[in-house]
Amino acid sequence: MDFSGKVALVTGGSGDIGRTIAEALADAGADVAVSYIGEAARAGEVVEVLRKAGRRSYAVQLDQRDPKSIDDCVRSVIGHFGRIDILINNAGWNIGIPFGDLAALTPEIWDRVLETNLRGPFLLARGFGAELRRHKSGRIVNIATLAGIAPGGSSIAYAASKAALIHLTHCLAVALSPDVTVNCVAPGLVEGTRMAERVPDAVKQSARAQSVLGRTGSADDIAQMVVAYCRTDSVTGQTIVVDGGNPMGMH
Ligand SMILES: NC(=O)c1ccc[n+]([C@@H]2O[C@H](COP(=O)([O-])OP(=O)(O)OC[C@H]3O[C@@H](n4cnc5c(N)ncnc54)[C@H](OP(=O)(O)O)[C@@H]3O)[C@@H](O)[C@H]2O)c1
Repeated sequence: MDFSGKVALVTGGSGDIGRTIAEALADAGADVAVSYIGEAARAGEVVEVLRKAGRRSYAVQLDQRDPKSIDDCVRSVIGHFGRIDILINNAGWNIGIPFGDLAALTPEIWDRVLETNLRGPFLLARGFGAELRRHKSGRIVNIATLAGIAPGGSSIAYAASKAALIHLTHCLAVALSPDVTVNCVAPGLVEGTRMAERVPDAVKQSARAQSVLGRTGSADDIAQMVVAYCRTDSVTGQTIVVDGGNPMGMH
């Protein structure tokens, strides 16, 4: 794919990894919308950086737990740019609940995690699907986690939601073929992020100890994998792990 004239939406572009993905897509030549749920100022900073780099960019408010907010976002992005070529389902939510503490994982928390991390990406793909298909070269990249492949991470609900997101990647790759490729990046712990702060300490220590490279996942490497998926024409339904080489993620 030649990125010039192409339009991307990075959900959660106000977040730590989303910002890096937005910058990498802009660097590759795309115009980029970034979504936020509450952190308008952080989203605004990202927009400024992308505009200074010579790209068109704007921030859109999105609560992907809310189907109406998703419909509004779809209308807003297509209204603003007149098209969309690339959807990066990066926004997510977690909370630290040790696996053994089943009682703490309430139905409300379960629903919040699953609605944000699984139903939201599906409804966004559904909402943007027709427009992504229109140019016959659409791209979706979902951001899952190593915890969606091997049991671990911030909570059982988070791990289950991301395991389902990985399989949603397979299902959408079939559903949207041949016009849209759908792929997934599964990061391990990314140090210094807001989300990593909500991961129990024991889980963080284990991620550090198990990475054979002696370092955990990098937001830059995640962003470069997203760009690579978007560039390719014959890769779909795939998941790549970016985690410093935890043997649990090696297939
Ligand atoms: N950080 C890690 O160690 C790590 C590891 C593996 C996978 N991941 C995955 O990488 C992705 C990005 O994580 P991150 O570390 O960049 O997290 P982050 O800094 O907490 O960013 C999360 C983003 O999602 C947005 N968001 C939260 N709830 C939302 C909702 N209901 N609707 C729409 N947007 C919502 C936030 O908006 P506001 O900024 O407005 O709050 C923010 O932009 C997530 O999918 C996460 O699961 C992260």
